[in-house]
Amino acid sequence: MQGKVVVITGATSGIGQVAAERLAGMGARIVLVARDKGRGEAALARLRERAPGAAHSIHYADLSRLAEMKRVAAEIAAAEPRIDALINNAGALFSSRHITKDGLELTFALNHMAYFVLTHGLSERLRASAPARVVNTASDAHKRAGLDLDDLQSANGYSGFKAYGRSKLWNILYTRELARRLAGEGVTANCLHPGFVATRFGDQSGGLLSAVVRMAKLFAISPEEGAETLVYLTSSPEVAHVSGAYFYRCRAAAPTKEAQDDAAAKRLWLETAKLAGLE
Ligand SMILES: NC(=O)c1ccc[n+]([C@@H]2O[C@H](COP(=O)([O-])OP(=O)(O)OC[C@H]3O[C@@H](n4cnc5c(N)ncnc54)[C@H](OP(=O)(O)O)[C@@H]3O)[C@@H](O)[C@H]2O)c1
Repeated sequence: MQGKVVVITGATSGIGQVAAERLAGMGARIVLVARDKGRGEAALARLRERAPGAAHSIHYADLSRLAEMKRVAAEIAAAEPRIDALINNAGALFSSRHITKDGLELTFALNHMAYFVLTHGLSERLRASAPARVVNTASDAHKRAGLDLDDLQSANGYSGFKAYGRSKLWNILYTRELARRLAGEGVTANCLHPGFVATRFGDQSGGLLSAVVRMAKLFAISPEEGAETLVYLTSSPEVAHVSGAYFYRCRAAAPTKEAQDDAAAKRLWLETAKLAGLE
């Protein structure tokens, strides 16, 4: 990873934080995307302390808002002539349904739309830097989700786990379609399940959900273990030519049959692009 540029979201905490620090330790220059100034500066300071050899940097954006996703992508594209890897990792679980000012359900906006818009905004840089990689953090939570593409905003009965599971199904379908569209261009796209990890995940979900997740986390793996597949997909030569796959514990794994539905992946792409105003 010596001299490689890695853009990563959700690295102020949890598995993203560990992955950013490990990749920096391997010689990469890290470009953080964070929403909170205090947490962002702390993450940047840790990187500078642990891997002082590279000029790590940070950009701020609330990745639940369309205008912010587009602005930060444009800012990074302007600042970085080459990008070797993009890690879309910021995500969360919300106990109740919130609609953003863009009219999008919050889980959909943060967990799926931000992956789509950021990648779209950086795709020219990634293509120009080939060989390059896109790594998307998904989850086995997709296994509880149905393929309801007619209700992307969870208007027909909201449950936090259901909306979260569906957003993670969208991550896998999006990765498949992205890989298909990037085929032959030297840019791979893969996604992963990190395991059930004791991070800040669920702490801000609200209601009973936070309490349930907090209890369950007593049995979770550490962020260090959880970050392993993220680091592997971003850096290992073993997966240099693998694209469109879902990984768990650094091995390709089979997601549900819904997550392998290429027609659904195409439709999701088109619907997402329309909602983002990126047709
Ligand atoms: N933990 C698990 O068991 C588990 C299992 C499967 C998949 N995942 C996935 O793993 C990824 C990372 O989660 P984690 O477990 O490491 O959780 P975490 O510790 O809560 O980290 C989440 C990260 O996302 C950032 N983020 C949240 N909302 C944001 C927003 N609106 N704009 C910009 N950044 C935002 C957070 O920033 P702040 O520091 O400002 O809050 C933080 O850096 C997520 O996609 C999650 O769905 C987690």
